[in-house]
Amino acid sequence: MRYSVDGTWRTSASGSTCEALNPSKANAPANRFQACTTSEVDEVFAKAREAQRTWQRTPLHARAALLHRAATLMRENAGEMAEALVLEVAKGAKDARVEVERSADLIDYTAEEGVRLLGEGKLLMSDSFPGNDRTKLCMASKVPVGIILCIPPFNYPVNLCVSKIAPALIAGNTVVVKPPTQGCTATLHMIQCFLKAGFPAGTVQAVTGRGGEIGDYLTTHPEVNAISFTGGETGIRVAQKAGMVALQTELGGKDACIVLPDADLDLAAKSIVKGGFSYSGQRCTAVKLVAVFEEVADELLSKVNAQIAKMTVGQPEDDATITAVVSKSSADFIQSLVVDAESKGARLCQEWRREDNLIWPLLIDNVTHDMKICWEEPFGPVLPVVRVKSDAEALELVNKSRFGLQGCVFTKDIDRAIQMADAMETGTVQINGPPARGPDHFPFQGVKDSGIGSQGITNSINVMTKVKSTVINLSKPSYTVA
Ligand code: NAP
Ligand code: G3H
Repeated sequence: MRYSVDGTWRTSASGSTCEALNPSKANAPANRFQACTTSEVDEVFAKAREAQRTWQRTPLHARAALLHRAATLMRENAGEMAEALVLEVAKGAKDARVEVERSADLIDYTAEEGVRLLGEGKLLMSDSFPGNDRTKLCMASKVPVGIILCIPPFNYPVNLCVSKIAPALIAGNTVVVKPPTQGCTATLHMIQCFLKAGFPAGTVQAVTGRGGEIGDYLTTHPEVNAISFTGGETGIRVAQKAGMVALQTELGGKDACIVLPDADLDLAAKSIVKGGFSYSGQRCTAVKLVAVFEEVADELLSKVNAQIAKMTVGQPEDDATITAVVSKSSADFIQSLVVDAESKGARLCQEWRREDNLIWPLLIDNVTHDMKICWEEPFGPVLPVVRVKSDAEALELVNKSRFGLQGCVFTKDIDRAIQMADAMETGTVQINGPPARGPDHFPFQGVKDSGIGSQGITNSINVMTKVKSTVINLSKPSYTVA
């Protein structure tokens, strides 16, 4: 497939390609993409700069209208995009479609939010600050940052791209997208919807190539004004290298689910299964650790295990709950965590089973702090359980993690829930529900190694704008009437 420059699709002069594999078919070749050269990247940024000068002067309502058109085209092309997600990232067919439809809704909401948020400015009078009379009036408005480099991850290559480019575009920025290699086809289809909607040449472009090869060149490019990145450890490296640009990074998580003795165990079990095993655990917000009080642990685990026994394992086309994880290296890593835990005394509640990238769902009981799975993010359908004896012990476990994305607590005691929520060092705490990013207008952020800045539609628009002040200096105070 070709890359997108200045409103057209082009083959790279490099003559090289990179390849997405099919995780469900023993990593057989799926699609090939251009491996762009550094001079092609330079050209893309030059076009983005040129286009941005005009785009920021395009009336806000006209920018919003184009976004609505792109959303409509996304819905019309949802089938094609969903098929590509099934093929390249083994997302279940229904979930794949939901990802595209959710993205179209996100675009519409962003357009609506943008016209209000950006359509208003602020007027400040100098006499509200001590020692000043009213001789200065400050008009503060939000202006675009410039060119936003958008790098989404494989697990939501459409939605986590749209969540970056829609706020960027409504705010008058232009975007350069670097799609994930796995999931690239769906991202490029999505870009095509924006181009067909009528976004001017240079406003929305995509350069392709392996992140490991082209990534540093992109993230350190002098034309980049802001980076919105979602992914894993790579994001820490991006932040270290980026320099004086605005940053929004959404990285990994180790979302813990704390189950207190008075919890509704049916609700907790259902949420743990949904939270832990949807899309085979490949969500940053997946439940990745259960901390359950000893006195209810056996009952909770038997409920969770009963639901795991009913899960379907198989092909994404058939909408199996558990499908192949994205790569062989990911499956190998997950297996290494299980082997380490078992060798240190953990109890596997199900038999370990793996075929190529397909790993059967697994609950791991009696996990202790010396096991890697207690701290690492497996990004797969394996879920460790630590038995705890007190709120303090549960909180210590959660807060010792280097991640801090979300966490959840199950209890009928709202006072205790709020105390736990206040003490948890995470960007979000869910009370009596599994971790989740959506609805997409909610603020979404991680602390510690889980990221910098906040997402959610309004927050993303704010990250992708800067404040511009114009101060009117009067020769006499404005309230002096001659
Ligand atoms: P990843 O390996 O970090 O890759 C993310 C993106 O970065 C891909 O587009 C990748 O391109 C690109 N990339 C690779 N090397 C790069 C470099 N040196 N410079 C710039 N970009 C580079 O993550 P992933 O495997 O796609 O996603 C899984 C991880 O993302 C998990 O840790 C998960 O928790 C996290 N995640 C977090 C959130 C959140 O909102 N907090 C959401 C989703 C996922 P290539 O594909 O070409 O390598
Ligand atoms: O994988 C990371 C996503 O931000 C999670 O989104 O909670 O809607 O699955 P989700």
